[in-house]
Amino acid sequence: MTTLVKTPKGLHGEVLVPGDKSISHRVIMLGALSEGETKINHFLFSDDCLSTVNAFRDLGVKIDIIDEHVIVHGVGFNGLEAPKHELQMGNSGTTTRLIMGILSGQNFSSELIGDDSLSKRPMNRVSEPLATMGAEVITTDGHLPAIVNGKQLHSTNYQMKVASAQVKSALIFAALQANEPSIIREKLPTRNHTETMLNAFGGKIVTSEDQLTITVNPQPRLKGIDLTVPGDISSAAFFIAAGLLVPNSQIRLQRVGINETRTGILDVVKRMGGNIQLENINRDGEPLADLVVTSSQLTATDISAEKIPAMIDELPIIALLCARAAGTSTISGAEELRVKETDRIAAITEEFKKLGIDITEKSDGFVINGSQDWHVESSQLNSHGDHRIGMTLAVADLLVDTHLELAGKESVSISYPDFFDDLARLI
Ligand code: S3P
Repeated sequence: MTTLVKTPKGLHGEVLVPGDKSISHRVIMLGALSEGETKINHFLFSDDCLSTVNAFRDLGVKIDIIDEHVIVHGVGFNGLEAPKHELQMGNSGTTTRLIMGILSGQNFSSELIGDDSLSKRPMNRVSEPLATMGAEVITTDGHLPAIVNGKQLHSTNYQMKVASAQVKSALIFAALQANEPSIIREKLPTRNHTETMLNAFGGKIVTSEDQLTITVNPQPRLKGIDLTVPGDISSAAFFIAAGLLVPNSQIRLQRVGINETRTGILDVVKRMGGNIQLENINRDGEPLADLVVTSSQLTATDISAEKIPAMIDELPIIALLCARAAGTSTISGAEELRVKETDRIAAITEEFKKLGIDITEKSDGFVINGSQDWHVESSQLNSHGDHRIGMTLAVADLLVDTHLELAGKESVSISYPDFFDDLARLI
């Protein structure tokens, strides 16, 4: 148990939010599959992204880390080497699912293992669509450990069953190694970093105007690039909420990625009456902006399925905004939360009830009656080993006078190792 930081009179200052997790994973993977060097600035040195770095090192790729910069010495699609032992995925769903797509088309076999949480998460959502290309991913009842027997793959024309950028990206990586172009159709648009980054590395991925159909042209020759990773809006989200909810606050979040497949939280906050200004917008490559957040009185909102992919990782902290807003909010169509690092619907409900929040658990989301006046029922909070639950509860702690404790605080290192230091600097 560790005591959380205690409640401030207002939050003030600037935060350079750490690099985007999704982009950090992908730049290592694409750099490895390219020819030449990929030089990365503002890489996210968190446990999850280091799982990707270590996995590619185990596949024979030289990756240097010099003064906070990362240099990937690309080997091309044919240059990966069979690993000498199991590939350790740690807690990282993104590493696991994307690498399955990459390894499916190689000429060797690999075994993937992960921690307890990752070993409970569904992997058949990747192995089954990959099988339509002739891939052989043998899971343990749909979970890790899994063996990927690399094969020559053929093209696919696949209608996705879940709205998941990880599944889509696994299919894209496999389709790049197939003999003919593949078509992947999404239910709802999900984050498009794999597609945009692949094209920056020299690939030829075509996305339809409605963003739902992706054509992957195979066998590209990718060339290494220099990339500065934008700040992660999913990490910025905790400071957005803190700035809105702690009275008398104004915070500047610098150089945050505002790719429109990720900015659902900005739309929700605006609908709820929150004051966020975008400044210094830069649209060369992945779009970026400084976000200036000012304390606001929020009103309730309704969030349904079609909006979920653009804010999937922000839903725990959005639920906290709803818990403070005037009126009744609903979040529905978010059943994917049940298969994240923990069952986030159950974890949020359990922890919010301890805080005295009026929340009702639904199979696919929540109903939350917002209030400025919570009566804390238990001071013993728990992150459930989930970084985003831990950070959500740390923001909640700023709003109550009761002394709270948070078990599993260290889980923030999955995506934001310096979270508590950055928060303390604003107080
Ligand atoms: C991610 C996609 C999302 C997200 C995860 C990162 C990615 O997962 O929740 O944190 O980088 O592709 P799903 O694809 O399971 O929705």
